[in-house]
Amino acid sequence: MKKTRIPVIAGNWKMNKVRDEALQFIYSVNQELPSPNKVETVICASDVLLRCMVKRQGENLKIGAQNMHFKEFGAFTGETSPKLLETTGVSYVIIGHSERRQMFGETDESVNKKIHAALKYELKPIVCVGETLELREKGLTNVWVKTQVEKAFENISLDDVKQIIIAYEPIWAIGTGKTATPEQAEQTISLIRDVVKELYNEEVADQVRILYGGSVTPNNIDDLLKQSNIDGALVGGASLEAASFLKLVDSAVKNS
Ligand code: PGA
Repeated sequence: MKKTRIPVIAGNWKMNKVRDEALQFIYSVNQELPSPNKVETVICASDVLLRCMVKRQGENLKIGAQNMHFKEFGAFTGETSPKLLETTGVSYVIIGHSERRQMFGETDESVNKKIHAALKYELKPIVCVGETLELREKGLTNVWVKTQVEKAFENISLDDVKQIIIAYEPIWAIGTGKTATPEQAEQTISLIRDVVKELYNEEVADQVRILYGGSVTPNNIDDLLKQSNIDGALVGGASLEAASFLKLVDSAVKNS
């Protein structure tokens, strides 16, 4: 089935790669990436790498941050402001990744504040939601994810919501090699689309891109992207090598 939404392949490099490795990756992919009319390709890297990557990004690659503070400036040692990210030239920012929620005290409230701040500085938020294995086994996935989406989107306007990309990342699937089945991913992602419809309207729900993340590789991405509600992937490990990233991008074009 032909999808109307432009797919997104976003790499989340986490705390990997030094400057030379990052630049080598960019030089390897720049000429190979298809036009942004076919697929949006993004690499989210450590803050220290962002400026040098932005300077060398080809026209089909965008650079994103992995986190930011919601305040413009102030006494927040070690944090990065949305204003600084904007002046650095990045276009996207991951917000509420489960590693930040679990290890760095990110809450639904801070996620919401960060989304507001990102939109103010014209950074496209990639907002992560997803359940633990324990919640899934108790049958609480839908309630949990619905609440995360509702809280993330509090007081976000109808116009702004179209800028947001949602990434459904079941925590048990991240970095474990245990991908959600295409059916599991599609079921939760279509629930998320329904929540967006309830909060806004059908038109907005049809436009919002919703990605799957969690052990996506070139070997399993096709079956995920064949699902009608899955608009791309947020990828950790398999985004680190240029050849693997390019395969993911090819799959997005083929399955859109
Ligand atoms: P993974 O990470 O692809 O290595 O599972 C995904 C993510 O954390 O966004």
